[in-house]
Amino acid sequence: MLIVQEADYSNALSRLSAATSGTGKGYLEEARAALKSMLADRSLLDHVPLERSPGAYTRNFLFGDDKITVYAIIWSAGSQTSIHDHHCSCCFGIWSGSIEESWYEAVDGAHAVLSRQFVRHAGETACMLPSGPNLHKMSNDTGQETISIHIYGYDRQTRPSSIDCEYRLFNGPKSQ
Ligand SMILES: [Fe+2]
Repeated sequence: MLIVQEADYSNALSRLSAATSGTGKGYLEEARAALKSMLADRSLLDHVPLERSPGAYTRNFLFGDDKITVYAIIWSAGSQTSIHDHHCSCCFGIWSGSIEESWYEAVDGAHAVLSRQFVRHAGETACMLPSGPNLHKMSNDTGQETISIHIYGYDRQTRPSSIDCEYRLFNGPKSQ
């Protein structure tokens, strides 16, 4: 199913879907190329029905097949995700605004500690594979709306979400 109608994206996303059976490196190169072309198009979302929710983020479907799912995520001011990881590849680019991405390292199956923080600006892309470190949280503390485009390597017809596990911040060992 395709919401984004332009032939360029259809071709790029079909190539990307085919690349999911290739190596991780090849897939990431295709994902970045597809994202870069979409981020450069200021009319990309003109005909996409976008949902907005004050204080929260919304996923807006753009493209999907049996291998990949593409969403435009609208991050309202103050919105954030849980600390989570993914069962699939997760590649995203910032279409407008900026957002903070925090990386974490798992302490156990339910807790994690902060390891790095980035501010992702409009035009930037970032990718992670399920085989590498992929524990993160997204937070929009800018006071403005941010829109990002996400390409996940999963079929939305068979799983409800790209998220595998959610974690809580580790606050250190309990005192005796
Ligand atoms: Fe994520």
